[in-house]
Amino acid sequence: MIDYEVFSRAQYQEAADAIRQRTAHRPQVGLILGSGLNPLADEVVDADRIAYAEVPHFPGTSVVGHIGQLVIGELSGQTVLIMQGRTHAYEGVSLQRVTLPVRVMHELGIHTLIVTNAAGGINPDFRAGDLMLIVDHLGLMAMMGGNPLWGPNDESLGPRFPAMSKAYTPALRRLALEVAAREGIPLRQGVYGGLSGPAFETPAEVRFLRLIGVDAIGMSTVPEVMVACHMGMRVLGFSGISNAAIAELDTEAEADHEEVLVAGQILGPRLMALLRGILAELPA
Ligand code: HPA
Repeated sequence: MIDYEVFSRAQYQEAADAIRQRTAHRPQVGLILGSGLNPLADEVVDADRIAYAEVPHFPGTSVVGHIGQLVIGELSGQTVLIMQGRTHAYEGVSLQRVTLPVRVMHELGIHTLIVTNAAGGINPDFRAGDLMLIVDHLGLMAMMGGNPLWGPNDESLGPRFPAMSKAYTPALRRLALEVAAREGIPLRQGVYGGLSGPAFETPAEVRFLRLIGVDAIGMSTVPEVMVACHMGMRVLGFSGISNAAIAELDTEAEADHEEVLVAGQILGPRLMALLRGILAELPA
């Protein structure tokens, strides 16, 4: 059973105030970097860095490859706030706390969230090193009650029953495809499936995920996107395919976190090129 916590808007504002006191930048775009994708934040110009531990109510990070700091500054003509690493529910943190940074981004005036993750390729055509534009998600964990919107609803933030039919903003997806085509960056499109983790999937689970239309599988992203969507933020998402999920019984292959981090090193530069192009053309 997943724990749940209640946070108030005053607590989100308290965290936002703490960040504002540490930086003169006023970010409008938020970026969450998944496993192995930390180096993307090194490109930020005039960066202010704030450890999550220094922001009230922020979750900590315990997973290798997740640094746990905010990097705020300029990137491709935008003022961005980058989360270098995220927290996952499997670390024993409530989904309300996992997604609290997205609430705080909104308090800071951020209107666009770009989420990235490392994911297992479920679509048999996908290979490690592929980049996938998330067109939609299958929130398996949320469908089973692991939903960050459980609990009292603050109507000042969003509706009790938010629509999720355009969770990944169509105009931003079009922009991503345009930039990818122009820059010659191969970009797959597909549905991201969100599980709780931390165990990787059994072959039977991989075959099940294929049947229900999942292209890439991971342990994050869905809660953050639901919360952003609840508050009317624009969302763009990318999965870096770090490994092909194993669908056959009794093969030698095994998924492990190391290959996820190694794939990040290949995916990082390509994703960075794509993000630069997108940020440069992001509508206000
Ligand atoms: N399964 C679940 N999550 C993942 C995987 C995977 O194969 N690879 C990276 N994150």
